[in-house]
Amino acid sequence: MAGATTPVRLDEDFIQDPYSLYRRLRADAPVHEAVMPRGLTVWVVSRYADAREALANPMLHKDMRHAKDLFERHSAAGADGRLFDQDLASHMLNSDPPDHTRLRTLVAKAFTMRRVELLRPRVEEITEELLADLAGRDRADLVDAFAFPLPVTVISELLGVPPANRDEFRDWSTTMLSAGEAESVAAAGQEMAAYLHQLIAAKRADPADDMLSALIHVRDGGDGLTEAELVSMAFLLLIAGHETTVNLIANGVLALLRDPAQLAALRADPALLPGAVEEFLRYDGPVNHATLRYTTEPVEIGGTRIPAGEFVLVSLSSANRDDDRFTGADRLDVTRAAGGHLAFGHGIHFCLGAPLARLEGQIAIGGLLARFPDLALDIDPAELRWRNTTLLRGLESLPVRLG
Ligand code: HEM
Repeated sequence: MAGATTPVRLDEDFIQDPYSLYRRLRADAPVHEAVMPRGLTVWVVSRYADAREALANPMLHKDMRHAKDLFERHSAAGADGRLFDQDLASHMLNSDPPDHTRLRTLVAKAFTMRRVELLRPRVEEITEELLADLAGRDRADLVDAFAFPLPVTVISELLGVPPANRDEFRDWSTTMLSAGEAESVAAAGQEMAAYLHQLIAAKRADPADDMLSALIHVRDGGDGLTEAELVSMAFLLLIAGHETTVNLIANGVLALLRDPAQLAALRADPALLPGAVEEFLRYDGPVNHATLRYTTEPVEIGGTRIPAGEFVLVSLSSANRDDDRFTGADRLDVTRAAGGHLAFGHGIHFCLGAPLARLEGQIAIGGLLARFPDLALDIDPAELRWRNTTLLRGLESLPVRLG
């Protein structure tokens, strides 16, 4: 059994290059024990078929309120478990049915393809403004000047978060999702929670035509949403809007700039764009692995029995590079049928924001290529640094020449 071998370490080398490790894991066994940066031990699922099945398996639970003793048992200090004590943690991504169903239903309507399509003109407008700012420059960090501000502006406007606090929010968000010390992660979480409580109080006093005001109305109408659930919902939507689409845009542009033939193919035929965005999600997706799941009874994955009371980490990036599912999976191919990738997860927790993320990704990358015919990398790819988080796959910066 995989448990007999030395656990794999998800360390700095892994953060800078997850794909080499994943390739080894897939070849070696269906599941491996691994140690997370703060010491939590988990079982990693790395092959496509197993990952897809695991994501839809109701025996892999997500409600972290019932996982406290597991955290104590699986990490010496229980550090990761303490992070789930905060009042930001009771959101749908940490819930199982029926709580999950109730929480997701409350906001699902706002994220249907039809509703999201109504946001298109505003997303195009924000994109054009950012591109116009870039147009006067020779060089830029594309993360800072483009990939980050676009999704953040969109989700902030949707929820009703004023622009003034966005820099602070970015710092908290970066710290919270980092692989750093549990103390600083917890402190950032507390500051963010305090900020959200304040924002909700302000919206309650002075409601506006935004999603946060609508959610407050639901809560105060006595529809079963607790105050913690309200704050957590706002937190989840804001974090999801801050931390994911930025990586879709930046990782996608990086993949293209490293592969001139693919870049030329996409420039020659912009109709390839929607499929290309799916391929960027598959090839180097924004989220490395799904959030934690745990067993309460033994579960079999790929023929290996995982005992009760264990954490399971389903690797989306590894599944998406599995040659058994995608031919030549390590190759970028913007004409590939990349549908079926797991970048947005699978099953009941499938990304609620997928239609919005796709819309933003297509408009952003399409607009950028159209505006800058000579766009090129302004750094040796070997020098690129990936952010200090095992959960996300995001560049610290992406220096480019604009032409
Ligand atoms: C869930 C990826 C953008 C909101 C998820 C999950 C993944 C994911 C993998 C499932 C995690 C798991 O099962 O453990 C992505 C990617 C994005 C993106 C790759 C961008 C390219 C967004 C945006 C929003 C959003 C823009 C909202 C505005 C959510 C929510 C959930 C979720 C609310 C939880 C759904 C549930 O628990 O039922 N996302 N996401 N995401 N995502 Fe996204």
